[in-house]
Amino acid sequence: MCGIVGYIGKRDAYPVLIQGLHRLEYRGYDSSGVAMISNTGELNVYKAKGKVEALEHFAQSKDLNGKIGIAHTRWATHGEPNDINAHPHCSQSGKFALVHNGTIENYNVLKVALLKHGYSFVSETDTEVVVQLIEYIQDTNNCSLFDAVREAMKQIVGAYAIAVIDRDNPDQIIAARQSSPLVIGVGDDEYFLASDATPIIEYTNKVVYLNDGEIAVINRGEKLHVFKIKGETETSINITELKMSIEELEKGGYPHFMLKEIFEQPKTLADCISGRITSDGKKVVLSGVICNKEKFLNANRIIIVACGTSWHAGLIGKHLFEDFCRIPVEVEYASEFRYRNPVVTDKDVLIALSQSGETADTLAALELAKKSGAFVFGICNVIGSSIPRATDSGCYIHVGPEIGVASTKAFTGQVTVLAMMSILIGQMKGTIDKATFEKVAADIRRVPKLIKEIFKMDSQIKDLAKIFTYARNFLYLGRGYNYPAALEGALKLKEISYIHAEGYPAAEMKHGTIALIDDEMPTVVIAIKDNVYEKTLSNIQQVKARNGRVIAIVTEGDDVVSKLVDYTIEVPEISECLTPLLTSIPLQLLAYYIAVNKGRNVDQPRNLAKSVTVE
Ligand code: AGP
Ligand code: GLU
Repeated sequence: MCGIVGYIGKRDAYPVLIQGLHRLEYRGYDSSGVAMISNTGELNVYKAKGKVEALEHFAQSKDLNGKIGIAHTRWATHGEPNDINAHPHCSQSGKFALVHNGTIENYNVLKVALLKHGYSFVSETDTEVVVQLIEYIQDTNNCSLFDAVREAMKQIVGAYAIAVIDRDNPDQIIAARQSSPLVIGVGDDEYFLASDATPIIEYTNKVVYLNDGEIAVINRGEKLHVFKIKGETETSINITELKMSIEELEKGGYPHFMLKEIFEQPKTLADCISGRITSDGKKVVLSGVICNKEKFLNANRIIIVACGTSWHAGLIGKHLFEDFCRIPVEVEYASEFRYRNPVVTDKDVLIALSQSGETADTLAALELAKKSGAFVFGICNVIGSSIPRATDSGCYIHVGPEIGVASTKAFTGQVTVLAMMSILIGQMKGTIDKATFEKVAADIRRVPKLIKEIFKMDSQIKDLAKIFTYARNFLYLGRGYNYPAALEGALKLKEISYIHAEGYPAAEMKHGTIALIDDEMPTVVIAIKDNVYEKTLSNIQQVKARNGRVIAIVTEGDDVVSKLVDYTIEVPEISECLTPLLTSIPLQLLAYYIAVNKGRNVDQPRNLAKSVTVE
């Protein structure tokens, strides 16, 4: 996701645009830009890599006049973060400038067609294809900008919120949206445009939320018009009067970024999966893997290096790769690996897992492996960060900026990518049968919907949190694929509530840790219907026999565990290898509500940073 801002009216546009970009920086930035039509009819476009302040520094000596403009703070999906790939993007003639939030899935097909029509491209982005397509349509049909934009929107496939201005018509902005948000602020003889209301609220609290499949014509000094992109009808304008503060708006109405990011997971995982599993469910398309097929086919071993939550995702990756690819996997704390003088050869594939792509230990670990000749593959969230730039290839998780220090949507994004990778490589190696491949692929696509089902348990989990807010220690038990989920649940609790919590393999507990169990030490047990379900039942009984209170995460419809434990939370049935994607959700919510009950700073817990760029 990124940020779009637009303005047309009586004020100078630049101050409105720049302040608006600052308001949207929480949505992610790696570069930004503005385009304004000056009072002398020039289309001035200024762009800079980095934070918005870099753009301000670059633009300070430029011609900043003009009472119409659009601006963008980028969260790159196609093309590295740099000045050229930054938005706004201009059409070949220099007549149109466009900003875009989202991803265009068919941009390659459109780009090839436009190249054949003599169009050339300066950037690597999918966005530039849109503005060139608009120009092509207007040139070949001699139509209005509105009609050209409307036709272009019918031809593109993907998610977009766009705003376009025309150098030769400084009294109009055209905007359209599909799956990405766009809000129009209705001022007194002026209009504002933004990805959310935060850049608008200081000027007007009257907003119109553009709906999917709509296109808006914003003319200076005239009434706002909104039409369906498909169909001729003009839609009625519903003006909403906002009452929220700016801070509340940035969090989408949630009290914390962490809660927003927990509830975002159905959408972020849909984005993560989008375009990567074919509609017939028979293929996984991960170009970073496919283009390096031999590396994976000939790998003697996969080494996964990571830290914290990413290390937990790596443990799940181990299970997945060993299950479906029959390749031995070692999962290493990057900080240990880099100083251990490890044995690494050119027959190794090293996977660096990192949300930020900046974790110093993980970066150092991959550099060490590269020196030893290993093939190094990155799985990151932040496009163009240090780790993706240092690896031989990789795959982005595409879950959008994760602001809360406690990782939630990035964890499920990492596990989802690892799951797709494992069945793809298994298919390449012939170590996964067709039925299993198709079942897991189909189940991966069900995950967003199943997570929405789990959210129905939200108030139950909130009530549970009240009961355990004053616990001083917690034990989290899991087995197999859910042992890492237990570790992750424990980390979530301790890092935001400051309650000591320990994740443990359920069977291992009787080798010492069981001595801790008493009625003051609650235990969370992940007891889903898997191949060790019966064993987990006996682990639960061992805890209960020592007066331990037990919260169990169970498979929907399980009526056995509920008779043994104090509380149960149900998650829908899914392939066992994907269960951590579901069992981790109630544990994220439990940790969140306990931390809130304790009055903790949930988004910025004490002593922690979002990206650990030091050793
Ligand atoms: C997880 O909630 C923590 N914020 C932390 O453990 C984090 O996962 C770790 O620092 C690794 O960060 P990375 O994924 O950006 O490399
Ligand atoms: N897909 C576009 C790009 O990579 C827009 C990304 C965004 O939403 O910021 O430039």
